[in-house]
Amino acid sequence: MSEWRWKDPAQGALLRYEPGNWGDILKGEWLCLWLEWKAAAGARGLRYQDPFCGWSEYPVTEATRGRVTASPATRYANYLGLSSASLVSRHAESLGLRVESRLSDRETALELLPCDLLLFDPYDFFERWPDWNDLLLEASRDRDVVVYLYNKSPRGASPFRQYQSLRERWKGRPLVMGRVAADAVLPRAWHEVWLVGPSAQDPTLRMRLQEATLALHRHVSDGGAFEC
Ligand SMILES: C[S@@+](CC[C@H](N)C(=O)[O-])C[C@H]1O[C@@H](n2cnc3c(N)ncnc32)[C@H](O)[C@@H]1O
Repeated sequence: MSEWRWKDPAQGALLRYEPGNWGDILKGEWLCLWLEWKAAAGARGLRYQDPFCGWSEYPVTEATRGRVTASPATRYANYLGLSSASLVSRHAESLGLRVESRLSDRETALELLPCDLLLFDPYDFFERWPDWNDLLLEASRDRDVVVYLYNKSPRGASPFRQYQSLRERWKGRPLVMGRVAADAVLPRAWHEVWLVGPSAQDPTLRMRLQEATLALHRHVSDGGAFEC
């Protein structure tokens, strides 16, 4: 763990997606809402594990900045350009929560550490879920796990079946899921964020996640629904 370090930003060409996309926005809002809910419940400290944490910061284009500013994602907008790990530590700090972060990335093998919140956001859970799913099912028995999934179901029957098999494995487990289109005009995939684990059963947290997700969903889909 101690040998881990942030990636060199000069590796920017290796980025596989645009930082600040709708998936990052949804994930960031959910993480902020989870932290706020935790702080309101009286938590003072938090152990956070992020085994695919990437860089601490990402380059953001003007177009992305404009899109985020115009969106209802007011929490994420404060942290645009930061990784989730940086967002969690800054937002937690603003709420008076002490965070112990356990960060790693491709360089280290995946090892589950004791924690309160695990963010599971590798490339590419949709394709590789059979490698990791049992571990997540186990981890979410005693801790909250936020999972990001680039759901390729809109591309056809085969990816949709792949998605259905994954969801089948989670049947009966506490799971809250938010979904927004990857693009208003060319929706080739869904950005999905899941919360699995004990807190997924809390009605207040569920309601807040639902409100934020629906607001974002309407904002994205309305933008592609009517032109004049
Ligand atoms: C989507 S990025 C992470 C973004 C970060 N979680 C955030 O929200 O700011 C995925 C990261 O997973 C890392 N990774 C590590 N091991 C991997 C593996 N075996 N397969 C796929 N991605 C892996 C990549 O290097 C990359 O930094």
